[in-house]
Amino acid sequence: MRRFQFAIFVQNILSMNETQFIPKLYTKKPENGSVSWQSPSNIALVKYWGKYGEQLPKNASISFTLNNCVTKTTLFYERKSSHGFEFEVYLDNTREVGFEPKIHKFFERVVLYLPFLTDYKFRIETSNSFPHSSGIASSASGMSALSLCLLSVEKSLSSVEMTDAYFNQKASFLARLGSGSASRSIEGDLIVWGEHPNIEGSSNLFGIKYPYTIHKNFLNYQDTILLVDKGEKQVSSTVGHDLMYDHPFAEQRFEQANNNLSFLISIFENGDLSKFIKIVESEALSLHAMMMTSQPYFILMKPNTLEIINYIWAFRNETGSKVCFTLDAGANVHVLYPEAEKEPVLEFIKKELAQFCKNGGFIEDQSGFGAVSV
Ligand code: PMV
Repeated sequence: MRRFQFAIFVQNILSMNETQFIPKLYTKKPENGSVSWQSPSNIALVKYWGKYGEQLPKNASISFTLNNCVTKTTLFYERKSSHGFEFEVYLDNTREVGFEPKIHKFFERVVLYLPFLTDYKFRIETSNSFPHSSGIASSASGMSALSLCLLSVEKSLSSVEMTDAYFNQKASFLARLGSGSASRSIEGDLIVWGEHPNIEGSSNLFGIKYPYTIHKNFLNYQDTILLVDKGEKQVSSTVGHDLMYDHPFAEQRFEQANNNLSFLISIFENGDLSKFIKIVESEALSLHAMMMTSQPYFILMKPNTLEIINYIWAFRNETGSKVCFTLDAGANVHVLYPEAEKEPVLEFIKKELAQFCKNGGFIEDQSGFGAVSV
């Protein structure tokens, strides 16, 4: 295909919304430099599981941005004359060639929106605040931190002003192309990703701040992550999402998730924690139900995951506490509770739940407000 035909082809397959992220010509050509961002992980309340096209979600999701589980990334860049991508990735100062194919694929996906990627060679230095192989996915925090760094570089190449709103939107858009859930890690404390008829401004392309009233019960919401299994992920996200393609319950699941998000709108407004719990726990179990009923099928929960869930339910029955749980695509349990219950729930976790964690390990976190330039 000739170059101009290719450009038209690209224009046609992109909606107007995507074209807004293709930059104008760069006016500056710095020789080298570096930028750093720290970006958090997030925990979904309504889960994203199933995608189409280029990292577009089959249903809308919503998450609390976390505060303490973060990735810090420094991106060094140096002008080059050779063609193609050139980069190296370092985790805790050690070269991680294992990460490079994923970053290469990410660069391929975003080069249309960040054309300077082929003009520079990069050194990506990254570290996580949470322990290595703790079973906590670093893709959301890692991909969002890298996207923010790349966008900061782009900002320095252009004299056209970039508003904060546009910067955050494009950062989320880029992060999404690295890892879907990463689109929800740029801002906080509640982020919606995926078009939803009842949420104004929601988009499949990027995450937005939840735009409606949030009751004080949900401020500084606590998330203590119980490290049940520190092993490698049994099912990668890519394989997992693909399982939804011909899943017998896929359509019902996507509808259920969108309905659950609708229910949450009034719950966030009136602060009804009992109803909140019902939605959040059902979402966690529905995500795992999808994995148990796909072909091939997986059980990602461990016996201790179930022990913890039963202990939480018993504690709630005995005390009237509003503590609840959610799960990611793994065995770890996120224990969610309002800030007002911090003391008794932490005591319960230490006394009753820590015994089910690998080496008694858990991470205390809470909802946070997104990435920061460092
Ligand atoms: O962002 P991905 O492609 O790794 O998908 C993550 C999906 C879940 O974490 C299981 C759910 C979610 O919405 O975060």
